[in-house]
Amino acid sequence: MTEDRPKWSGTGRREAFAAAEPGDRRTRGVRRARWRDNGGVTGTDTRDLAALRPRLPSPLREVADGRFERHGVRLLLKRDDLIHPELVGNKWRKLAPNLAAADGRTVVTFGGAYSNHLRATAAAGRLLGLPTVGVVRGQELADLPLNPSLARCAADGMRLRFVDRSTYRRKAEPETLAALLRAVEAEDAVVVPEGGSNARAVRGCRALGEELGEHADVAALACGTGGTLAGLAAGLPPGRRALGIPVLKGGFLEDDIRRLQQRAFGGHRGTWSLDDRFHHGGYARTTPGLDAFAEDFEQRHGLAVERVYVAKLLYALLALTEEGAFPRGTTLAAVVTGRPFP
Ligand SMILES: Cc1ncc(COP(=O)(O)O)c(C=O)c1O
Repeated sequence: MTEDRPKWSGTGRREAFAAAEPGDRRTRGVRRARWRDNGGVTGTDTRDLAALRPRLPSPLREVADGRFERHGVRLLLKRDDLIHPELVGNKWRKLAPNLAAADGRTVVTFGGAYSNHLRATAAAGRLLGLPTVGVVRGQELADLPLNPSLARCAADGMRLRFVDRSTYRRKAEPETLAALLRAVEAEDAVVVPEGGSNARAVRGCRALGEELGEHADVAALACGTGGTLAGLAAGLPPGRRALGIPVLKGGFLEDDIRRLQQRAFGGHRGTWSLDDRFHHGGYARTTPGLDAFAEDFEQRHGLAVERVYVAKLLYALLALTEEGAFPRGTTLAAVVTGRPFP
């Protein structure tokens, strides 16, 4: 292996092969044939996705919570976590347009060791008969037992490739990406970026704003890459706004979201803003206050609160309400973008 090529994990037990090697053209043909032999439907088709019976529009439910009511604020929960048992929440909205575009080709995507996006992509591959490859950040993981999240990916048939962090950072550079695709023998793959946020995904998230329509004054959600917010804001009608709560520290997201909207729609869309104060130390970090808040919210409302994103969103909405950030009479919709794993 030369220096300028990505350092993939070696072959052997750390590569989780679902089926035969993708380089085996005969096997690839069989997989495609199976995919295409789908009730007469050729290639990936929106009807294949519809057969998965997503619950769309997702339910919108009001919750009675005195802590909001005393400030004259109504709280609605937009239950995207109920769209599909395996393509949960914004994963459905972001992945569906990419899966539709895959047309039977391998889907290659990227993520960390606990990535919700990797799990959802792997599940989609199993459900739709699409080969998937997950490029995982951290070559050191190659020598450890798979954690439950990666084990689920592997069980769903995703081939896992572990790469060192420096290669992972350069994964969008054309040379690095080309070397990666060669290494996994999937040069004709559909490449979906980390977090799933490409232009197709952003356009897919517009439906979330359209579903919310006039139901809420402020549509709020937790942000990682910002792709969901970029689409949601574009789908909201005039006079309604989107509020994003970044779960990562850094303050870089505004520019990213502008770029995502530019690519997806050709320019800025909708009214949106971010509040950077609620990351609780950064991605996947927590505080005793956040944990206590999430447990209490679960008990009050019977909602299993996903901790990396949704807990930070709900915490932020209560803090902002108590600060008086929303005028009396405001209706807030909190988008429940995921649910706890496992
Ligand atoms: C549960 C959950 N909520 C919110 C997000 C953030 O979405 P985005 O990366 O589009 O900002 C993610 C990541 O995809 C997620 O897994």
